[in-house]
This record gives sequence, C-alpha cells and structure tokens, in this order.
Amino acid sequence: MGARLVLILGGTAEAAGLAAALADRPSWWTVTSLAGRTSEPRPVAGELRQGGFGGVAGLTAWLAAERPAAVVDATHPFARQMPWHAAEACAALGIPRLRLLRPSWQRAGEDRWVEVADAAEAVRILPNFGKTALLTTGQEEVKLFLQLHQRMRLVLRSIEPIPDLPLGVVHVQARPPFTLETESVLLARYGVDVLVSKAAGGAAGQAKILAARARDIPVVLLARPPQPEGPCCGGVAGALAWLAQQGS
Ligand SMILES: NC(=O)c1ccc[n+]([C@@H]2O[C@H](COP(=O)([O-])OP(=O)(O)OC[C@H]3O[C@@H](n4cnc5c(N)ncnc54)[C@H](OP(=O)(O)O)[C@@H]3O)[C@@H](O)[C@H]2O)c1
Repeated sequence: MGARLVLILGGTAEAAGLAAALADRPSWWTVTSLAGRTSEPRPVAGELRQGGFGGVAGLTAWLAAERPAAVVDATHPFARQMPWHAAEACAALGIPRLRLLRPSWQRAGEDRWVEVADAAEAVRILPNFGKTALLTTGQEEVKLFLQLHQRMRLVLRSIEPIPDLPLGVVHVQARPPFTLETESVLLARYGVDVLVSKAAGGAAGQAKILAARARDIPVVLLARPPQPEGPCCGGVAGALAWLAQQGS
C-alpha cells in the first residue's frame, strides 16, 4: 500500500513538528497549509501550500481533489475561522479530522493574571492596570488597542511591520521563540508595567508570562475562542497516536 496523505493546517510550531515527525514515517506524506501571513515562513518538512482555500467551498474542493486520508488542524488556538471551515468540509466528505490544540499555560500562585473574554474587554480595563503596556496579541487585536495611545504608552511587538502607527507608539519587530532573559530585558527597557497576551499556551510564548511573573507585572490574558466538537489532542505525540489509529 502506498503512503497516505495527511493535510496539516499549519501556522504553529506543533504543525511544523508534526510534519517533521511524519517525514520519518513511510506510511504518510504530508501537505502543510499556511495562510501566507508571514512573509518568510520557517521551512517545513514535506510539501507546502500557501494562501487561503477560499472559504468552506474552496477547502471542500481542495479536499475532494486531493483526497487526504486525514486532516490535522494544527492552526493556532486563536485561529477563529479555519477550525470551523475544516470541521464542516471534513464532515461533508467523511474525512477524519483531528484538532491539535496546545494546552493553555497553568497559572502559578505568584501570577497576577487578569483574565478577559476578548480584546474589547482588555481595552476597557487596561488603563486601570498600568501606564506602559506591552501588547503581543497580533495585528488584528492591536488595531483595537491603538485607541488607548493617548491614555497610556503602548509597546507593540509583532513578526511583521505594522503600518501607520500613531506617533509615540513603540513598535518592536521580532520573531519567536523568545527567552526569559530577552523578555525580561524588553520589559525593563521600556518600563513595561502591564502585559497583554492571548492565552496562547506553548513553550515559545511562555517566556513573556514568566518574565512578567518574575517582575511582578500584571498580565491581561485574552481567553481562547470556542472550538468545533470532535477529536482533539494537545501535541505531536497525540496526533501521531491518532493517525496510527486511522484505518487504511
Ligand atoms: N490568530 C493568531 O493569534 C495566530 C497566531 C499565530 C499563528 N497563527 C496562524 O496564522 C494563520 C492565520 O490566522 P488567523 O487567525 O487569520 O486564522 P483564521 O481566522 O482561522 O483564518 C482566516 C482565514 O485565513 C485562511 N487560513 C487560516 N489558516 C490557514 C491555513 N493553515 N491554511 C490556509 N489558509 C488558512 C483561511 O482563508 P480561506 O477562508 O480563504 O480558506 C481562513 O478563513 C493560521 O494558520 C494560524 O495558525 C495565528
């Protein structure tokens, strides 16, 4: 029997890790799909496709043409649309789908977390918690926070440049992973006294949470969006175990 195709919906370290792990297994070959948001994505093992599919209809057409034996949705925990598109398209075609969703960070006793439902709530409460905020939420949410730029100092960090920032807003362009040391230096350099982050989970993003803990800085943490029902795992090992169970 020939190798079977698995479509990995990517954009995360876990997606790249799964593609790398499957590259060593002759029973599978992979296509990793990226939305195409990052101008120079890190290389991935196996095949790569980039750009949106064109909604549920486009994804369904792609799946019907390529007929993968399984889909692993390893998009970011804050990807709001792709998991739902994948759930609908896979259900329509009877293709097994797994959601790979990394675990959330665990709160420690010393953490000063302020958990909020979304960016809009974070914007409302943020000025109560500090004078200089480091925002690491991603470009979509950043737009909402910019309305605060005359009330507090904003330090934005993102992988890609952010055009048309108001005067006085600091932009730090950098690509993860970050370390506890580099995050601590960043917080100290700009006098950050409150951090805003998505509850993204994962080791790479946790350094800033640990740095805030070490500096006794509050963290305004945006809750994860809801996920479609269905099988779910927390990492690459779980995805490999699930794939091994899929009939040939
Ligand atoms: N949201 C975050 O905080 C975050 C953080 C780090 C990485 N990422 C990654 O960045 C990508 C985009 O994030 P998002 O929040 O915009 O996602 P989203 O809201 O779920 O997706 C928006 C649209 O982007 C396209 N898309 C998303 N993921 C794709 C993929 N893996 N392959 C092909 N097309 C994809 C789809 O376009 P069509 O409808 O045209 O198919 C989708 O409808 C995702 O792959 C995600 O894993 C997101």
